[in-house]
Amino acid sequence: MKEPATVTRPADANSPAVLANTPLPALPHWERTPDDLPGAIRQVKRALRARIAASGRTVEEVFAVVERAVRAEVADIAAARERGEEVWPVIDYADVQAGTVPDETVRALRRRGCLVVRGHFPREQALAWDRDIVDYTERNGFFEAYRGPGDDFFGSVGSRPEIYPVYWSHAQMQARQSDRMARVQRFLNALWKHESEGVRWFDPDRDSLYPDRIRRRPPGADSGGLGAHLDPGTLDLWMTSAYQRAFRHLFDGTVERYDPWDAAHRTDGPQYPGTTMCSAFRTFQGWTALSDMDHDQGVLHTVPIPGAMAYLMLRPLLPDVPEDDMCGVTVNQVFPASERWHPPLMEALTGIPDVRAGDSVWWHCDMIHSVAPVTGQMGWGNVMYIPAAPWCPRNERYAADVRDAFATGSSPSDFPDEHYERAWPDRVREADLNTTGRRGLGLDLD
Ligand SMILES: [Fe+2]
Repeated sequence: MKEPATVTRPADANSPAVLANTPLPALPHWERTPDDLPGAIRQVKRALRARIAASGRTVEEVFAVVERAVRAEVADIAAARERGEEVWPVIDYADVQAGTVPDETVRALRRRGCLVVRGHFPREQALAWDRDIVDYTERNGFFEAYRGPGDDFFGSVGSRPEIYPVYWSHAQMQARQSDRMARVQRFLNALWKHESEGVRWFDPDRDSLYPDRIRRRPPGADSGGLGAHLDPGTLDLWMTSAYQRAFRHLFDGTVERYDPWDAAHRTDGPQYPGTTMCSAFRTFQGWTALSDMDHDQGVLHTVPIPGAMAYLMLRPLLPDVPEDDMCGVTVNQVFPASERWHPPLMEALTGIPDVRAGDSVWWHCDMIHSVAPVTGQMGWGNVMYIPAAPWCPRNERYAADVRDAFATGSSPSDFPDEHYERAWPDRVREADLNTTGRRGLGLDLD
C-alpha cells in the first residue's frame, strides 16, 4: 500500500467557497489486491468519508443527492412501462450507417445507457454464423471433449455447455472485424468523452476486438439465469489510484459533477485479478443475436441508469453497512447488486424487447445487468459476445495476450484455462484477418 499524502484542493473543485483552501485528504490506495481485505476496506472507507467531509458535506448529504436523481430515473422508467412504452432505445442499423439516428434517440440512449441495434447484420448472415459455429465445434469433437464449466459464475447455469469456451471460429472473427461492427462501435464510443485534461483516453475509431465466448441455449432449456451484477471491477474500483481519480467527483463531495460518460483515468489502470475479470476497458458490453429470442425467454435485463454507479459506489459508506463490508463486493467474484443494499435500483431492472437473429444488444460498461431465469425455453437463445473495447493503453496491453492466444488457439488470459481450440486445424488464422482485424489485435501499428 502507498502512504497517503495530503494534496491541496484543485482550484476548479465545485465545493463551498468557504472551504476552498482546506486541504483535501488523499486516499490510501492498493495497486494490487490487498492482503488484508477487511482491514483495507475499513481503511479506505474511513479515508473516503474524511475526504467527502472535507468538502463541507456529509456522506449522507451527497448520497441523498444521488438517491434523489436515481429515484427520479426509476420513476421515469416505471411510468414508461405503465404507458406500455419500450424502455430500451431501439436504433436501426441503417440509420447508424447513414448517420441519420434521430437526436431524440441519441438522447434516450445517453439517458438509458443501453440499446438494441435492429438489423445490425442480415438475419440470414447471423443464422449462417450460428450454423457455422455448430459445424466448427462438432467437426472438432468439442462435445466429446467438454470437461464442464471452467468458471464458477457462468458455470452455475448448468452442467451442459450453454457458454461455449470457443473464441477463434471464422464466424466470430468475421463479425468482430466486419465493417458493420466497427461502425456501430464507433457510434457508441462517440457517446463517451474520450479527450480531456490534454489526454486522449482512447481512440474511438479503433476497436481491440475483445475475444469472448458464445452462448447457445437450446429449446426446452431450464436455466436459473444470472443474478444482478456489474462487470467493471470489484474492490479495485475504490482502492486503486486510477479508479479513485475516475470516480473523483463521487469521492470528494462534488457528486453533481460525476459524468458516467467520462473516460478520464479509466483506460490505463490495473484491475485485481479474478476468474470473471475483464482486463479490457469496454465502453459498452454487447452481444449479437444468433437466433430470434422473445422478451420472456430468459433474456438480458439491465438497470438502465448509467448514473446509478454513483449509488453503488457510495452506498457502502453509509453507517448501516458493516465497517469491513462493501455491500458484498469482494475480489474474485462479480460485483453484486441486491435487494438488500440497492432496493430502488432493482425496481428498474428492465428486459430487452424481442430480438431477431442479427440484432445486437448493448449496455454501458458500469450498468447492472442480469439474465432472467427460464423454464422450458421456446426456441434457441444464441448469442455471440462482442463488446466495444476501443484502443487505449489498457486494451493495447491486453492485446499482447490476445495475440498469443490467437496464434496458439488458446483461451484468452481473461478466461479460464480451457484451450479447446489449440488442436483444431480449421480455427481462424492470421491470413483470415482484414485491416480492422489486424489493427484490432495490434498486428499493425495504426
Ligand atoms: Fe456480466
